[in-house]
Amino acid sequence: MAIGKKYRWAILGAGHIAGKFAEGLAACPQAIRYAVASRQMEKAEAFRRQFGFERAYGSYEEMWADPDVGIVYVATPNHLHLEHTRRSLMAGKAVLCEKPFALHVADVREMVSLARAKKLFLMEALWSRFLPTIRRFKEEMMGGKYGKPLLLQAEFGFVAKYDENSRLFAPSLGGGAVYDIGIYPLFLALYLFGKPNSIEVVSVPAQTGTDMTTAILMKHANGEISMLTASFAMRLECDAKLYLSGGSLRLCRMFHMPTQLTSSLGEALPAEIEVETLSNGYNYEALEVMDCLDRGVTESDRWSHEMSIDLMELIDIVNQKAKEQFDR
Ligand SMILES: NC(=O)c1ccc[n+]([C@@H]2O[C@H](COP(=O)([O-])OP(=O)(O)OC[C@H]3O[C@@H](n4cnc5c(N)ncnc54)[C@H](OP(=O)(O)O)[C@@H]3O)[C@@H](O)[C@H]2O)c1
Repeated sequence: MAIGKKYRWAILGAGHIAGKFAEGLAACPQAIRYAVASRQMEKAEAFRRQFGFERAYGSYEEMWADPDVGIVYVATPNHLHLEHTRRSLMAGKAVLCEKPFALHVADVREMVSLARAKKLFLMEALWSRFLPTIRRFKEEMMGGKYGKPLLLQAEFGFVAKYDENSRLFAPSLGGGAVYDIGIYPLFLALYLFGKPNSIEVVSVPAQTGTDMTTAILMKHANGEISMLTASFAMRLECDAKLYLSGGSLRLCRMFHMPTQLTSSLGEALPAEIEVETLSNGYNYEALEVMDCLDRGVTESDRWSHEMSIDLMELIDIVNQKAKEQFDR
């Protein structure tokens, strides 16, 4: 798989996020933009040309059969993540799979078990986890320098064009605001405070029965509270505010891909902190994969299988509570 310290990547599904990821990959010297696989050859070829890949495949099967593919980046809709990760692992490839990792925690457990059985690398593409600003945000919180963390308020919302057949709204494609964007505030709460002890949910459905707007209130082990919102119905501020006993920190819009954080923690920290982010940010998750492979490990300790399982478990609970309200 590796040529010296280089890795041959293949992209599975030539859609919107695949293009963004390809741009990020171009900023990683150890990544070879090797193959793109689409269900349509013309689309694969156009993507190959646009993003400078070596090979284009008009079916996913042909890409899986190529022994020179080292790492597969799964960029298909949510309902296909389980199947496409499974097929990639069965073909002997390392896998980076888009968020949400799958539709349910049982699916994630299955993916993780298979990767472990095959001794292959697997990671959820939770790119925000690897962004320098998010790392800095957590570092500033740690150690009690600014007091005790008390409250996280994080929100992600935009007005989504309603289309019952789109991946945002179609139940068959794993639609819903929580799966698509609520995952970011949920990730941040989990990353900062750990698993919650209690979860309250208020949710409003779209016409398709998937969630349109969902508010989540959680209490964590040390008494921290998270207040999280996801919506396809309104343009929210999309920032994240962390209140500590000694002040507050804010990840500015868009908090899941920030380059700036501000503080009201006094002189110890400047009010505005710029954190350098290289390329478009998707390069950091790709670098993590290749760094893990360089070290011969099959799991990242920065976004581990257990963290993905915890996140998916949370999403399952939130979606179940929302569904109970819709069914009433
Ligand atoms: N990390 C992020 O910032 C971020 C942002 C947006 C989305 N995402 C995630 O990335 C995944 C893809 O989202 P996207 O916005 O890129 O979607 P998209 O533009 O619709 O692309 C998805 C691609 O999947 C392939 N596909 C295979 N079977 C399909 C089917 N039955 N219906 C539709 N497409 C199918 C298609 O590629 P071919 O036609 O080439 O086979 C399609 O272009 C989702 O899981 C989403 O949650 C992540």
